[in-house]
Amino acid sequence: MAIIGVDINAAKSILERGDLVAIPTETVYGLAGNALDVDVVAKIFKTKNRPTFDPLIVHVDSFERLSEFTEELPKKAVQLTSVFWPGPLTILLKKKAIISDLVTAGLDTVAVRMPRHELARELLRSLNFPLAAPSANPFGYISPTSAQHVQQQLGDKIDYILDGGDCGVGVESTIVSFENELPVVLRLGGISIEEIEGVIGKVEVNSHSSSQPKAPGMLKSHYAPKKRIIAIDALNSETDDLSTFGFLGFSKLDYRFKAENQILLSETESLNEAAKNLFGSLRTLDENPSINTIVVSYVPEKGLGRAINDRLRRATAK
Ligand code: TXA
Ligand code: MG
Repeated sequence: MAIIGVDINAAKSILERGDLVAIPTETVYGLAGNALDVDVVAKIFKTKNRPTFDPLIVHVDSFERLSEFTEELPKKAVQLTSVFWPGPLTILLKKKAIISDLVTAGLDTVAVRMPRHELARELLRSLNFPLAAPSANPFGYISPTSAQHVQQQLGDKIDYILDGGDCGVGVESTIVSFENELPVVLRLGGISIEEIEGVIGKVEVNSHSSSQPKAPGMLKSHYAPKKRIIAIDALNSETDDLSTFGFLGFSKLDYRFKAENQILLSETESLNEAAKNLFGSLRTLDENPSINTIVVSYVPEKGLGRAINDRLRRATAK
């Protein structure tokens, strides 16, 4: 089992000797290691059981650090980062040679973000290298939003989990590419399309599923629990035995399911609260022994709701 604690110095020395530490961010917990050391990066892929075609996000605490391994930011990237950094926004920038091809899966761009979580920032400030950090879950499974989630799944593979409490945003960062004239959102996340367009104008959204993904939280099936999981429209109330079904709803219970098998994301219909509760609620249903099928209902398709629905669609995809 890993030690769970708030000791920045312990985390720092593990990272400096070339090992991995799970770190809190405002979105989800990350499995972090020195982004400039290719052996450490290889450990990240191995520990997560992640295919090497799926590139990593590199985390920084300053623009000075960023400029050590990326080319200049395009104008719209400057505008976006000046509003949303530190925060749940990831941008793709041309990489310098110091970033290995393993980090970027051979692409000439590297994904970067400046997290807002205070412990992550403190840790990054104490290091003289940036941190590569994918979500701290086994590949394809639900992302972790607490130190305990990380412990359950990766606790036997790492020494230390930096405990920053429950993640405030609860879904991963929004990923934006500036390669085309029109910026492209490759993953819906903690900063909404509306917020982004409010700063840089129209963007294209291309977070569609693919089995040959360029940006693969884009994988069609992802973020999935172990149990059978279906969307509410795939429910057949006549033939299904609903007494063994669990339900993840937005704001209202569904009388067809047992009350104790239901979780609501936000009784007050807050999409922020729903995002924060999403992954933890899916885990709770996945762990409930009296449930064999999880039924999910979608939330309003606006703001953070789009990122939530995106995760629900991937979780229910075959
Ligand atoms: O909120 C987050 O972004 C969290 C926290 C820990 O920062 N991290 C996270 O990492 O979600 P991960 O590895 O689970 O997702 C990274 C996504 C993948 O879908 C990957 O394909 C995409 O970023 N990505 C990374 N580099 C890319 C690149 N150069 N071009 C396109 N997509 C890229
Ligand atoms: Mg992930």
